[in-house]
Amino acid sequence: MKEIEERLKRLRAEIEDHNYRYYVLDAPIISDAKYDKLLRELLQLEAAHPELITPDSPTLRVGAAPSDRFAEFSHGEPMLSLDNAVDENEVREWDRRVKGGLGASKDVYYTAEPKFDGVSVDLVYEAGVLTGAGTRGDGRSGETVTANVRTIRSVPLRLRGRGWPRFLEVRGEIVIGKSDFETLNAEQARLGKAQFANPRNAAAGSLRQLDPRITASRPLSFYPWGLGSVEGGGIPSSYSKVAERLREWGFGVTSLLKRVQGCDGCLAYFDELAAIRADLPFEIDGVVYKVDDLAARARLGATARAPRWAIAHKFQAKEEITVIEAIEVSVGRTGVLTPVAVLSPVQLGGVTVTHASLHNQDEVTHKDIRVGDSVIVRRAGDVIPQVVAVVREKRPPATQPWRMPVKCPACGSDVLREEGQAAHRCMGGLFCPAQRAGALAHFASRRAMDIKGLGEKLIQQLVACDRVHTVADLYRLKQEDIVRLEHMAERSARNLLNQIDNSRQTTLPRLLYALGIPQVGEIKARALAVFYGDLSQVIEARPETLQQVEGIGPDVATEIYTFFHQQRNRDVIKELEAAGVRWPKGLRGKTGLPLVGRTFVFTGTLASLSRDAAKEVLVELGARVTDSVSKNIDYVIVGSRPGAKAENAKALGIATLTENEFLSLLNEAHQARPLR
Ligand code: IVH
Repeated sequence: MKEIEERLKRLRAEIEDHNYRYYVLDAPIISDAKYDKLLRELLQLEAAHPELITPDSPTLRVGAAPSDRFAEFSHGEPMLSLDNAVDENEVREWDRRVKGGLGASKDVYYTAEPKFDGVSVDLVYEAGVLTGAGTRGDGRSGETVTANVRTIRSVPLRLRGRGWPRFLEVRGEIVIGKSDFETLNAEQARLGKAQFANPRNAAAGSLRQLDPRITASRPLSFYPWGLGSVEGGGIPSSYSKVAERLREWGFGVTSLLKRVQGCDGCLAYFDELAAIRADLPFEIDGVVYKVDDLAARARLGATARAPRWAIAHKFQAKEEITVIEAIEVSVGRTGVLTPVAVLSPVQLGGVTVTHASLHNQDEVTHKDIRVGDSVIVRRAGDVIPQVVAVVREKRPPATQPWRMPVKCPACGSDVLREEGQAAHRCMGGLFCPAQRAGALAHFASRRAMDIKGLGEKLIQQLVACDRVHTVADLYRLKQEDIVRLEHMAERSARNLLNQIDNSRQTTLPRLLYALGIPQVGEIKARALAVFYGDLSQVIEARPETLQQVEGIGPDVATEIYTFFHQQRNRDVIKELEAAGVRWPKGLRGKTGLPLVGRTFVFTGTLASLSRDAAKEVLVELGARVTDSVSKNIDYVIVGSRPGAKAENAKALGIATLTENEFLSLLNEAHQARPLR
């Protein structure tokens, strides 16, 4: 028996050591197979001798049997909340209060760390062994989630090293990584289960499972941010030293924790974190500053709600809750109907958001978005407002599911949805003023024919008074047609006519893009121009040959073919030519381009040219540009503040280029380019 006990002890220690190396240090030293073998041996021994199972056994990490409710968990010391500062001034005021409270004339030292966007938990260690874990609850008591917390690999079941107090409460945040969150949601969708609105909800939902085996299956991590009760042993005199100690005891203390000097140190740290926030593997919603010296903390004390020695400096919210006041439908230039949510105005990341695209009927149905609903809105990629989810508990009575109208709101034509397509389309074609106005605005836009001064308002008027039906009609406009419009006078009319006149000299890529062929953006337009060199050849191209063009697959090829086989479109092109619109033939022939067959990906920001311009040059040289890194990529161009693509490229052994290297590659390619 003694022997078995010894073997169990050694196995547990060894397995926990591998867990620590894998989940905390991110540096495993044995293969998964070897690890599984050790765990299997432990499971078998424990199954044969259940009386020898201890609370620190790594086998508990796979999850205990489900329970029917959570028991109460009382905190040794209350788990308080944090006061918030929303701007620099509020941080300065707080710093002044701290200095006042301490009677300090010099800078106070603070520890600064990320404000993790997760769920907080309180872990109890007795004689170095994890014996309990509870949620925050009302701050005095929460729910016991020990079995669930044991499944989280970065939570030590037994403290490492030595010198820990007999009784110790370690507090911190349970989070789920951004990419793990995406994977989890994809899995939820596959299983037909509700998606989580954000990583915080996913972490909370995963932790509060009555069946710990479900928690065990979720990729949760624990980051400590403080201590609660400490009995029977000393701890260092400052939090930065406590953090070092926690690291020695086996916790994954964030490497972003920093000791900073005074308010300026805090604010500099805030800027540093804001700059790398998007690249962090987990969500943070601000930073927390805390007085480093623990004796000073005790002197400052706490209000009933929050300690005076700490403050959360929040990033501007990326996510808010607001109400859907109406759902409007907009008609695009290709006749696609898009539902748009009209929102009660809400501040998001420093701008007021009033509208959000709901994309299509399926999206609305899937999220069950209704007028009157409270919804979580977020700015996707920090820019485009997006409705993430409905807050179901806040739904008012008597709401109705939303349906796409059956008649176009702009022209009253039928609205149809083609088999297998997400979009509903208006069947009115250029009879529909919304489509006509959309097509004209696209034609005149900067990257197309670049007719400055021809904005949306003017276009709407021109369409409404029936002066312009097709894009070719723009070139037939006269001074008297324009001065009649609102806000137009002699001079502005003359300017506009000059601009229209200037646009007569254009290029083949611009013209191809301006025509508004569905799914043909700038890059594809340029690729077509490079491949064919002449518009007449594009017009006559068969779908099979179109597919030989870089970036054009069967669907786009069909769109292009169909577009040029509408008599109306061919007529417009003839009218444009008749109106004096000219585009020199060809860029280059289809062969002999120096970068043919090479594929590039961009990450980060380039200093000397925009990403669009860089793409354009590459395509002109015959290269392909895509968005995601795979092993078929030749080069990844790494600008400043690169994203995960740079890492992925390294992992796949793909060549990366700095901006300078990229520019000299372009230079070389230009010189190698055949002459026209
Ligand atoms: S320190 C006495 N540090 O934010 C409370 N809290 O909004 C001291 N949180 O309840 C808290 N990251 O759950 C602290 N680095 C961090 C944190 C953090 C997230 C949570 C914590 C707290 C809540 C307040």
